[in-house]
Amino acid sequence: MTLCYLNGTFQPLEHAAISPMDRGFLFGDGVYEVIPVYSRRPFRLDEHLGRLQRSLDAIRLANPLSSTQWQGVVNRLVTEFAADDCSILLQVTRGPMAVRNHAFPATITPTVFCLAEKLHTPPDEQRTQGISAISTADIRWLRCNVKATSLLANCLLRQMAIDAGCAETILFRDGMLSEGAASNIFVVKDGVLLAPQQNHLMLTGITYDVVLELAANHGLKTDVRDISDAEVCAADELWMTSSTKEVLPIVELDGQKVGAGKTAGLPGPVFWAMYGWYQDFKRTVMRGN
Ligand code: PDD
Repeated sequence: MTLCYLNGTFQPLEHAAISPMDRGFLFGDGVYEVIPVYSRRPFRLDEHLGRLQRSLDAIRLANPLSSTQWQGVVNRLVTEFAADDCSILLQVTRGPMAVRNHAFPATITPTVFCLAEKLHTPPDEQRTQGISAISTADIRWLRCNVKATSLLANCLLRQMAIDAGCAETILFRDGMLSEGAASNIFVVKDGVLLAPQQNHLMLTGITYDVVLELAANHGLKTDVRDISDAEVCAADELWMTSSTKEVLPIVELDGQKVGAGKTAGLPGPVFWAMYGWYQDFKRTVMRGN
């Protein structure tokens, strides 16, 4: 039995039901968070709840739960999950409407859905051999900093990568790097870690922040700024990051090997350094060992 939380009630997922008039279903009118849990400790819960609040503010929806209530729901799902590691989905939609209408209903009863799922960390070979990516134009809206459930463009963009036998699609807007279809993208050039700056064209990942913090703690130089497509093509290393994928090296982009020299087409030395720092951090801070 998989336990979920729906509108105030913990219940088996199999029994959970929402109205077909839910605005989340009909319009993708909602926001969400995905939180990794290691050794039954939700990672950066406050930061995820902070981002959820910013997303709710951006779509003009009052937060239906207090921080303490969110923590209570997350803790119960974590406690009852079969494994020590999992990932938690939090989702809030603008709820059901009596009549289909784009404008907000006068009275809103948001739908709150939370679920613990198996944590799908990447298989070892994706880390040791790296992954392939394609690139394309970022066709999404101009509020990508909102973690909205309306993910149709992201789904189409991720599927483009899958259809090409790749793992991720790297997105460019007006020749500048924004992010991946469901990840943030980093560039390594001449020993410096480049990251696109936070703005409305990308989601600021919780993992993105962790990677920049680890770089700062270990003396790896960083430069957070706009990154052009030419710089991505000329990168020594490319990485993708997300809560569930952690940090993965992209070793091939649009059929071309990433990097030059001995590590061309292989995970590079800066990736291996970051991977080590990330795993140490996971063991000591995330798992608390
Ligand atoms: N997505 N950018 C986009 C568009 C994303 O969908 C995600 C993660 C990220 C990375 O954010 P974080 O480091 O906080 O996971 C960046 C999640 C995992 C998802 O939709 O399942």
